[in-house]
Amino acid sequence: MDALYHETKLVEVYDAINSSREDFDFYIEEFPNAPADILDIGCGTGTFALELARRGYAVTAVDPAPQMIVRAEQKDTEGSVDWVTGLVSDLANNISFDAAVMTGHAFQCLLEDTQVSALFEAVEQRLSANGSFWFETRNPMTKPWLRWTPEHASPPIALGNGRSVEVVQKVLEAKGDYVTFEERYNFSDTGGTLASQSTLRFLELDKIKAIAAKCGLELSETFGNWKRERLGDESPEIIIQLMKAA
Ligand SMILES: C[S@@+](CC[C@H](N)C(=O)[O-])C[C@H]1O[C@@H](n2cnc3c(N)ncnc32)[C@H](O)[C@@H]1O
Repeated sequence: MDALYHETKLVEVYDAINSSREDFDFYIEEFPNAPADILDIGCGTGTFALELARRGYAVTAVDPAPQMIVRAEQKDTEGSVDWVTGLVSDLANNISFDAAVMTGHAFQCLLEDTQVSALFEAVEQRLSANGSFWFETRNPMTKPWLRWTPEHASPPIALGNGRSVEVVQKVLEAKGDYVTFEERYNFSDTGGTLASQSTLRFLELDKIKAIAAKCGLELSETFGNWKRERLGDESPEIIIQLMKAA
């Protein structure tokens, strides 16, 4: 598990670092109107799940990283979301959701075909007849990792009380579908640095479609960015809607 998702100090700064979220508005527009049952997969610190609950949805949110769920629960002062530490397959399979979603490129944490199949099978079993599974993956054609360098580091991010953190990325290896990179978090208050190493998978759409088909899900929509523009070679995102196969 990446330090990013289980080191308490990094989990605490996750929301500040990931504060600009056009994806949330995009997905909410695609969901059926509230009240409806939504499953947030790889929910992280729970910001999206909490926003959905605030809008009147019944939300179940799962994540395999215990520290992320702890942080999400701390934020949920009204107990509005059903938080589960684990995978979709850990949920009872007699419940059904009107939509499932995986935001923040969490899909790219699944490194093996077997993990993708297990996810798709578990979602297929728990989607209502007209339910959708929405998620996105960065487009491998645009090679975004070429910009994950110290030279492209953003200015330090404010954490409150005059504190800030600078995040510096460096790719260690890009091979096949996989990119392994290091992130160093330089904290202004202590002068200390924490490092996290991650590997992400950049799966092509055709491979995702093929695995989905074996799991009873079919592609019903794609977009190339959060403005709903068509997917093309230069699109930054591959945004995907899967539904139960007819
Ligand atoms: C970049 S964070 C995204 C969190 C949140 N969805 C968001 O949009 O901010 C990726 C999350 O995926 C979770 N994750 C890792 N492997 C996973 C898996 N196999 N299934 C579901 N979630 C996973 C991590 O624990 C982490 O919380």
